[in-house]
Amino acid sequence: MKIAIIGSGYVGLVSGACLADFGHTVTCIDKDAFKISALKRGDIPIFEPGLESLIVRNLQDERLTFTTDFAGPVGEADAVFIAVGTPSRRGDGHADLCHVYEAAREIAHALRGSTVVITKSTVPVGTGDEVERIIREECPHADFAVASNPEFLREGAAIQDFKHPDRIVIGVESDLARQVLMQVYRPLFLNKSPVLFTSRRSAELIKYAANAFLAMKITFINEIADLCEKVNADIQEVALGIGSDNRIGSKFLHAGPGFGGSCFPKDTVALIKSAQDYGSSVRLVETTVAINDARKRAMARRIIEAVGGNVRGKTIAIFGLTFKPNTDDMREAPSISIIQALQDAGAHIQAYDPKGMEQARMLWSDVAFRSNPYDAAENASAICILTEWEQFRALDFKRLAKLVATPIMLDFRNIYSADEVTSHGFAYFRIGAASRTGPAPTNVSPSEQEAVA
Ligand code: UDX
Repeated sequence: MKIAIIGSGYVGLVSGACLADFGHTVTCIDKDAFKISALKRGDIPIFEPGLESLIVRNLQDERLTFTTDFAGPVGEADAVFIAVGTPSRRGDGHADLCHVYEAAREIAHALRGSTVVITKSTVPVGTGDEVERIIREECPHADFAVASNPEFLREGAAIQDFKHPDRIVIGVESDLARQVLMQVYRPLFLNKSPVLFTSRRSAELIKYAANAFLAMKITFINEIADLCEKVNADIQEVALGIGSDNRIGSKFLHAGPGFGGSCFPKDTVALIKSAQDYGSSVRLVETTVAINDARKRAMARRIIEAVGGNVRGKTIAIFGLTFKPNTDDMREAPSISIIQALQDAGAHIQAYDPKGMEQARMLWSDVAFRSNPYDAAENASAICILTEWEQFRALDFKRLAKLVATPIMLDFRNIYSADEVTSHGFAYFRIGAASRTGPAPTNVSPSEQEAVA
């Protein structure tokens, strides 16, 4: 089967590489000639585990090609995926669909023979109807169908998610679209991955509803974590206790500094805007967004309080900048609000992230980026873990204790146990547990002693 994918960003690349690996002949198209020539050489512009080798292998086997040419590959394709960006529109938070509609217009002029056009980009309900209208208007005699096939790819685990999905959602309004998409996903059908055929509008809404629900679940556990701190309960025990109920499920119950990334923040706001357009209310989602935004800012206050209420002139070590591990993506990362607030309060930031520093350097010129966690900890009044990278899970606390100005650790991802950390003389703060445990830090000033007690 011949497939063209419009847009060689995160979703386009992962989908293109995986579909080629299924045995299809895939052409990934992008207007960015610089990006395409890098991709042709096997240089991948994003960090995603396993993606580079998958792309290189399929390039070598000639199942995957990259081009800026639109008309040729789209004309020959049985299926054309639209995988362009749908960022938040400046000013109102609606999903900006200009790239989707532009792609639809260009596809219309390139279509030859029977073709299924599929939106993979996250798009509001009704976008498929508009794509169909545009193509019909531009090319009245074209033989085509429009389908919706949202992606559910987590950064850092995208290839696993593509090849072993919990479900594949396919929104169709015609038999042609259904037949072609069954062929596209044939290897997954054979693997018995659950495939859900729905209407096109339902498929579009499923994507937003899924992300909003997950964002809500995280926000819920974050609020319960705050309550745990007040009532001397432990969020990890509470999460385990509620997550063991199959109706609730144990995933996405990790309390933390708030959700970030390229999807949840953008998609929750876009869902609110869509609902408003239709005169419907999604107040739970509105509240989720408000709580999450406030939470990121509140995290900085926790750090300031932990070091005695004043960070002016002090150094804070930040371990982890990306919004989650195994990605270099900094979009809407909690680190952005937290570092900003700490700097506003006069702190000097020393930061380390295994993959995110290149992106981070574009955001801050006044952060001291260090090449490992130990250099970042040097002379720090507190260390704060913001991203649960694997390499932060086995830190050498003895070494850290010698480097820091004050042995205070704030673990906003709950990757340590209090005993582990406090046995090295560190004061330990984590999310959703009553208070610092273990011995008081030895080399803090009396006012700081008071603050952390
Ligand atoms: C998400 C969806 O999971 C994916 O299906 C969708 O298509 C794209 O958006 P992604 O943004 O890559 O994926 O990351 P995800 O793993 O969902 O995490 C999002 C944010 O929530 C991160 O900031 C993460 O740290 C946070 N999170 C997640 C928590 O704070 N607690 C959790 O229990 C889970």
